[in-house]
Amino acid sequence: MSFAAITGVGAYLPGRIVTNDDLAATVDTSDEWIRTRTGIRERRIVAADETTSDLGAGAARAALLDAGLEPDDIDLLVVGTSSPDMVMPSTACLLQGKLGLTCAAFDVMAACTSFIFALQAAASAIESGRARRVLVVGADALTRLIDFSDRRTCVLFGDGAGAFVLEASEEQGVLGIDLGSDGTKPEVLQVPAGGSTMPASHETVDAGLHFLQMNGQEVFKFAVRAIPATTKKALAASGLALDDLTWLIPHQANQRILDTVADRLKLPHERVFSNIELLGNTSAASIPLAVNDLYTSGSLRRGDVLALVGFGAGLTWGAAIVRWTKEDL
Ligand code: ACO
Repeated sequence: MSFAAITGVGAYLPGRIVTNDDLAATVDTSDEWIRTRTGIRERRIVAADETTSDLGAGAARAALLDAGLEPDDIDLLVVGTSSPDMVMPSTACLLQGKLGLTCAAFDVMAACTSFIFALQAAASAIESGRARRVLVVGADALTRLIDFSDRRTCVLFGDGAGAFVLEASEEQGVLGIDLGSDGTKPEVLQVPAGGSTMPASHETVDAGLHFLQMNGQEVFKFAVRAIPATTKKALAASGLALDDLTWLIPHQANQRILDTVADRLKLPHERVFSNIELLGNTSAASIPLAVNDLYTSGSLRRGDVLALVGFGAGLTWGAAIVRWTKEDL
């Protein structure tokens, strides 16, 4: 059996920065409220002519360059997203076309856990021998699903994309993975209209049902339980313990969630990565964007052990333990 290892990392962020003060100019909120409740100061927002697959293409090209590979070298593309360019075709197919890839391509939709589910699919394809080089992209333009007159949600999200190249390797880069779903609570975080339950109509648009709706406190309570539990399970599946972790890299949804998780796991806060201040919640992109930040700032050393941990609508959650096998920058 081959192992899967990360050989390329890339990121792409849209150019437009929207600060808390910018939002406070249009809705009843303040920089102080947003910073103290979430840790967010600013976020990036897609341009009017940009789509999720455009963001993904930027990140994918950077990851291919980092891995020293050409589009033809890739034999599978997996895209994690909850803000697809359109209902069909898949964002992965649109991205495949933009990149000039010739391989099979499919989407994984697990809200903010999409990247971890996509990573599982990619690693499994390599470990089973069905693929040797897989491009895994987490891309979201979730601000396209946000009501910018709703202060409870519009302050939280930003847009972006991150990507990994995974390759068959004699070194085990992807160690244990734990995934979970609980489909009994869809109402905690949902976009009610636009699917087969409630097809888009004048009425659904008038009622704002095509926008994301969230019970923030329920998500918060779920996240601070799910992150420690799934991290411990994935570590156990890897034969490792919390002390072996170099970095805990959770989905970036709220600084207070990250701080609570650090306390519950008794991890020093400086080992729990955060870039939420500058990016907000970028959904499926947040974990590869975080890894890219650590990598490009020279903070990762060969042999480091990372816990990549997602949670989101579904409900879904998951953790992947990764041994960093790339040479130091
Ligand atoms: N500015 C000012 N006031 C606000 C704002 C805002 N942006 N948003 C809410 N408020 C008000 C509310 O209206 C409420 O006022 P009221 O008491 O007069 O009714 C008050 O602040 C408190 O509201 P709460 O919802 O209780 O605020 P809370 O402390 O729970 O913070 C928050 C809200 C930040 C959303 C928090 O619950 C949270 O971060 N939850 C997790 C959300 C999350 O992670 N979502 C992403 C999940 S990942 C995915 O799959 C997409």
